[in-house]
Amino acid sequence: MTTWNLEGTRTHLFICNGSSCMRKGGEEVTLAVRDEIARLDLDRQIHTTRTRCNGRCQDACVVIAYPEGNWYRVDSPEIGRQIVRDLEGNSIESNKIYHWVNGEMMPNLAASPPEGIRKDSAVKK
Ligand code: FES
Repeated sequence: MTTWNLEGTRTHLFICNGSSCMRKGGEEVTLAVRDEIARLDLDRQIHTTRTRCNGRCQDACVVIAYPEGNWYRVDSPEIGRQIVRDLEGNSIESNKIYHWVNGEMMPNLAASPPEGIRKDSAVKK
């Protein structure tokens, strides 16, 4: 078990390692993100966590940045590296599927419109 001292961390990247994302290159994306962090000597500023499914399998592989609040569709290791270099995602708008707008998660209209089941309609009554 590992216990990191997170003092100084500015961004937490959640890298989906659920089965859909792993079939779409999740391991390569995970390794590229972590390699870019090391290459740029950003280990103290950016923490990463492998996760299970984040409920956006259609966008596999999914990477999420907080506190930026950006959800990304990462279709190549290079996009993963780009997220590390541009945490706001300004240079990869077409890969940013959701972002925070006025304290609420909203689809990024600069990306292709995300599809999915609305959470409130998925609740069984
Ligand atoms: S497996 Fe990654 S979003 Fe579902």
